[in-house]
Amino acid sequence: MIRTVLGIETSCDDTSVAIVRNDGYVEVLVSANQDLAHAPFGGIVPEIASRNHTLQLLPLIDQALTRFSKPATWDLIDGIAVTNRPGLMGSLIVGVSTAKTLAQVLKKPLIGVNHLEGHLLAGFLWDSDFQTSLKNHESFVALAVSGGHSTLYWVPRVGHYEVMGTTLDDAAGEAFDKFGKMVGLGFPGGVRVDRESRVGNPQAYLFPRSLLAEDTLMMSFSGLKSAAQRQVDSMSQDDLEKHRADLCASFQEAVVDVLIHRLDQAMKFKNSKIAVLTGGVSANSRLRERATVWAKKNNYHLVVPPIRYCTDNAAMIAFVGAFRLNQGESDGLGLGASPSSYAQDFIGTNR
Ligand code: KG4
Ligand code: ZN
Repeated sequence: MIRTVLGIETSCDDTSVAIVRNDGYVEVLVSANQDLAHAPFGGIVPEIASRNHTLQLLPLIDQALTRFSKPATWDLIDGIAVTNRPGLMGSLIVGVSTAKTLAQVLKKPLIGVNHLEGHLLAGFLWDSDFQTSLKNHESFVALAVSGGHSTLYWVPRVGHYEVMGTTLDDAAGEAFDKFGKMVGLGFPGGVRVDRESRVGNPQAYLFPRSLLAEDTLMMSFSGLKSAAQRQVDSMSQDDLEKHRADLCASFQEAVVDVLIHRLDQAMKFKNSKIAVLTGGVSANSRLRERATVWAKKNNYHLVVPPIRYCTDNAAMIAFVGAFRLNQGESDGLGLGASPSSYAQDFIGTNR
C-alpha cells in the first residue's frame, strides 16, 4: 500500500518540508537555508536558528501542500513525520510542536524520526529527475558524513542499524568548517574549501591521517585540524593567500583519504557489495570522485544520492516516516524532542 507523508526537518539551521511516499518517491521538497543569517558569527547561533525556523516553517508547509495538490488539501496526506532527535533543542522544538499541532488538528498519525536514520536512508529517495539504484531489501554499508557526524553504519535491513565506527572528536564537516575559517574563507567552510581545492595541489602539504595505521574503524580529525593551524600560524598573510588553494587541497585530501580508507575497511569487514555515501560532506567533489574510482576498482555498487538529498532535507525524514507508517508504527502526541539519539536507535558500542 502506498503511504504519503509530510515531513518536517528543523534539527539544525535548515528549515525543510517534503511530501514523500513509502516507496521513496519525493513528490515535493522545499527548503530555506539560513547561511546568510549565521555567516557574520562564523558558525550556527542556536537562537537565530530557532527564530528563523518559526518564521520559515509555516510558509514552507503551505508551499509544499500547494505544489503537491491543487486545490491544496490535507486529504492525500497519510501522516506527519518530524525530526525529533538529535539536534539543537530550540530548533527541534519548533518542528516537533508544529508537527504535533498538525497531527492533532488534522487527526493524522505522528512519527518522530531520528535525523541520522534519515541521512543513512537517503539512498532510497528518487524523483522525476533521478532514479535510485538502491533496492528496498538490500543490505549495505553507509558512511554518513555531515557537520555533526561522521559515522559508518551497517544496515542489514531498513530499521536495523549497527554503528561500525565514528569520529572520536570533530565530525568531517566540522573540520572542514573550522579549517575554512582558519584560512579566511568564512562560514560555511566545506563548500568553499572544495571550490578552492580545485586549483590546488593536494600533495603540497603533508597533513596527518590520524589512526589510519590502527586496527579500528574509528576516525579522528582533531590532529589534522591542529596540524593545519600550526601550518597557517607559521605563514604570513601574503603567503597564506598565495598558497591557500594548496592548503585547501592538501587538507581536503587528508580528510578524503581517511573517509575512503575507513569505508573500504567497513565494506571488507561486512563482505558488503553496496556502499551508500551520504550527509552534507558527501557533496564534496573530491570525495565523490575518489569514491567513484574506489568503487569501480573494487567492483562495488556505490550509491551517492543527489546533493539535495545528502544535505539536511525533509525528504529523508518524510521517507522514514512513510516507511514506519506502512509498518503500522506511529508515535503519540506526547512525542518530545531530544538533543541526542535514543539508546535503542542504533546497535553498537560506539554510538
Ligand atoms: O548534512 P548537513 O547539511 O548538516 C548536518 O547535519 O550537519 O552537513 C553540513 C556540513 C557542513 O559542515 C558543510 O561544511 C559540509 O557539510 N559540506 C561540505 C561540502 N558541502 C557541505 N564539506 C565539504 N565539501 C563540500 N562540498
Ligand atoms: Zn544532517
